Amino acid sequence: MKIAVLGTGGGGRAHAAKLAELGHKVHVGTRDPEATLARTEPDMMGNPPYKQWLADHPGIQLHTFADAAAAADDIVINGIDGHNAVTALTAIADQLAGKTLIDYAVPYLYGAETEHPWPTPWGSMPKLDPCDTDSLAEQIQRALPRTKVVKSFVTQEQDTVVNPQAIGGGDHTMFVASDHADAKQTATDLLKSYGWTDILDLGGLVTARGMEMYAHMHGAIGLALGLGNHFGVKIVRR
Ligand SMILES: NC(=O)c1ccc[n+]([C@@H]2O[C@H](COP(=O)([O-])OP(=O)(O)OC[C@H]3O[C@@H](n4cnc5c(N)ncnc54)[C@H](OP(=O)(O)O)[C@@H]3O)[C@@H](O)[C@H]2O)c1
Repeated sequence: MKIAVLGTGGGGRAHAAKLAELGHKVHVGTRDPEATLARTEPDMMGNPPYKQWLADHPGIQLHTFADAAAAADDIVINGIDGHNAVTALTAIADQLAGKTLIDYAVPYLYGAETEHPWPTPWGSMPKLDPCDTDSLAEQIQRALPRTKVVKSFVTQEQDTVVNPQAIGGGDHTMFVASDHADAKQTATDLLKSYGWTDILDLGGLVTARGMEMYAHMHGAIGLALGLGNHFGVKIVRR
């Protein structure tokens, strides 16, 4: 299948590499391919320059966001920085029309002044915006009425999403939410191809609020376990 991954950060790279490994034709989107390939410094998360990463992943193609989305048969994965995602995706609404958009972005607002900051070793925890009465996924769906938005991936670490067996032998849980049953099935099938066996359908896209708000809990658990201690989330049923 031809699948688009919008985003050149660590999450986007994890999906692009896994999809290529699974035999898909991967089209990655970035704002300006020339500028992205000209970067020589690691990104803010310490990922190596994209050109270097691309050289290690032959066959993956880099385009503008619009051209990558246009190249996809159906599935487009959104890994654009949460605060800028709605604007960037609205600009390519025509290329996304009729497609399944799986969104894993967190609506973090970095450096926001907050009344009660949460100190972390790297500064204050970013603020979630929107939060509680809306979600980024719902904002994207409202902005793109011709696209079928699914929220997923976001409650697990990016390397775990594409390799669930790395944690607890794969015995943990992934969530999906969407207002479109067929798109949710498409995302579920993709997750199964990644190796997920426990995929919990949370229902409509409104439940993306819970997935996005979990980002703070994920951060708290990560801080408690310490850097480099990877973990998964498992729903234990009766
Ligand atoms: N497990 C998970 O589901 C998971 C894991 C990690 C992160 N996340 C969340 O997913 C999102 C992506 O994370 P990430 O670490 O993969 O990448 P990231 O570094 O947060 O974002 C990188 C992408 O955002 C684009 N971008 C940045 N500013 C932009 C702007 N003003 N306009 C348009 N595009 C812009 C960049 O474009 P260029 O390519 O042009 O630089 C790049 O492609 C974040 O919200 C993050 O919190 C989720």
